[in-house]
Amino acid sequence: MNPRFTNRIAAVTGAGSGLGRATAIGLAQEGARLLLFDRDEKGLAATASECPGAVCVVGDAASAADVARAEATARRELGLVELLVPAAGILGPAKPAIELEEEEWDRLFAVNVKGPGLAARAFIPHMREIGHGAICMFSSTAGLSGSPFLSAYSASKGAVALLTRSMALNHAAERIRINCVCPGTINGPMSEASFALAGDSEARDARAATMRARIPAGRFGEPEEVAAAVLYLLSDAAGFTTGVALPVDGGRLA
Ligand SMILES: NC(=O)c1ccc[n+]([C@@H]2O[C@H](COP(=O)([O-])OP(=O)(O)OC[C@H]3O[C@@H](n4cnc5c(N)ncnc54)[C@H](O)[C@@H]3O)[C@@H](O)[C@H]2O)c1
Repeated sequence: MNPRFTNRIAAVTGAGSGLGRATAIGLAQEGARLLLFDRDEKGLAATASECPGAVCVVGDAASAADVARAEATARRELGLVELLVPAAGILGPAKPAIELEEEEWDRLFAVNVKGPGLAARAFIPHMREIGHGAICMFSSTAGLSGSPFLSAYSASKGAVALLTRSMALNHAAERIRINCVCPGTINGPMSEASFALAGDSEARDARAATMRARIPAGRFGEPEEVAAAVLYLLSDAAGFTTGVALPVDGGRLA
């Protein structure tokens, strides 16, 4: 297959682990030049080691100042960013919504909802200068249907799906496409953390079995399978696709 992103500049937040890392590596393998952003310096360095020429910025995706620093670094060291993947996200506390502390609400929505909004605000001006661009946000199956285990997380990811659709309407005429993926349960640290919230190892295994039983494909997904969907949505092949929330979930929401 011909590389789809040769010399195109992409920014990925949450690039230090899991799905952001798999997306960054996939983009690098197809020729993109990358700005990688994460609060975890070590994780970022591990990803960068697989993405030749990548520029790293350590910071908080919920901080406008940190995101502005990433934007300025990208402009200075790489050029104009055409592709954006705001993947940074947190699970938040596994408590019923009525039990969340105010700071827990604030942090969850600051990272999961304000974060992609800040990233889009920082990089859409680059896309306007180029004359086109594409963003792929990270919602979740929990953003399209309710989650009994993670009600506030589910609400934050529902917000991402509608941020995606609304922003797609804002920017379609500027040739800036905005879509999101809605991963189901994907093997990696975040899913492990969500199972662990169930309690001891027996409860954790039971939670994992419950989650697996809901997936028609009979298995959890792999980060590379989500990255493949993200790369499609960013690619020219998806040139008439905007405002879409694409489940990547082994049929869970079918
Ligand atoms: N893994 C899944 O099963 C799954 C399912 C649905 C949706 N998602 C979503 O996919 C995205 C990626 O998840 P993942 O599985 O790769 O998780 P992960 O925990 O493996 O990686 C998340 C990365 O984001 C970084 N991060 C978190 N908060 C940050 C902040 N405030 N500033 C900067 N960096 C920050 C972390 O350091 C980490 O490197 C998230 O938005 C998540 O909600 C994941």
